[in-house]
Amino acid sequence: MQIYLDTANISEIKEYVDLGLCDGVTTNPSILAKEGKDIPSAISAIVKIVSGPVNVEPIATDLEGIIKEAGEYAKLGKNIVIKLPMIKAGLKAAGILKKKKIMTSITLVFSPSQALIAAKAGADFVIPFVGRVDDGGAYGTEMVGQIAEIYRNYAIATKILAASIRTPIHVVELALAGVDIVSVPKKVIDAMIQHPFTDAGIKKFLEDWNKKTQK
Ligand code: G3P
Repeated sequence: MQIYLDTANISEIKEYVDLGLCDGVTTNPSILAKEGKDIPSAISAIVKIVSGPVNVEPIATDLEGIIKEAGEYAKLGKNIVIKLPMIKAGLKAAGILKKKKIMTSITLVFSPSQALIAAKAGADFVIPFVGRVDDGGAYGTEMVGQIAEIYRNYAIATKILAASIRTPIHVVELALAGVDIVSVPKKVIDAMIQHPFTDAGIKKFLEDWNKKTQK
């Protein structure tokens, strides 16, 4: 399973690139707004340090505007993926960008039926939102598991890139469902690494060793 970072923060990305744990990056307008830079500057800084796919979402929601922004962002690096909304303009843009050999993802996906359509539109990645499905009172990882089963049934090449991930348990359930990629914020990947028993174990080993060396 690949792990992408769901952030545009350079120091967070650099930390996980250095650990060898950043296979790609997802951004969205909310994430980019936090960094206080314009979109091309923020994305240029990311593609300098990340060799895997870097997702950037046009602000426009009309077809002409989406294609115009996509053309500008695609010039920023060979690994740029244009993140398109799950609306008719986004689906149409996926087909147009595919012909231009520009990679696309379809985002804001909340159901298996939307994921089936995103794949038929030719997107390279589909981005189902796990946590927000949970927020709505349904079961986000189960919804993504259904997408994985449907894609397996038809040997669909579109990769599942699960987002809106809030906990390590989300990641484990997604891995059990066989999803291709999870995109996680720093706090979730930090939590995947840390365990209080690991910290307690290190402390105990050191205490025992220090007692022995003091004898
Ligand atoms: O990539 C989408 C993700 O950032 C949304 O996460 O927690 O705001 O639902 P969240």
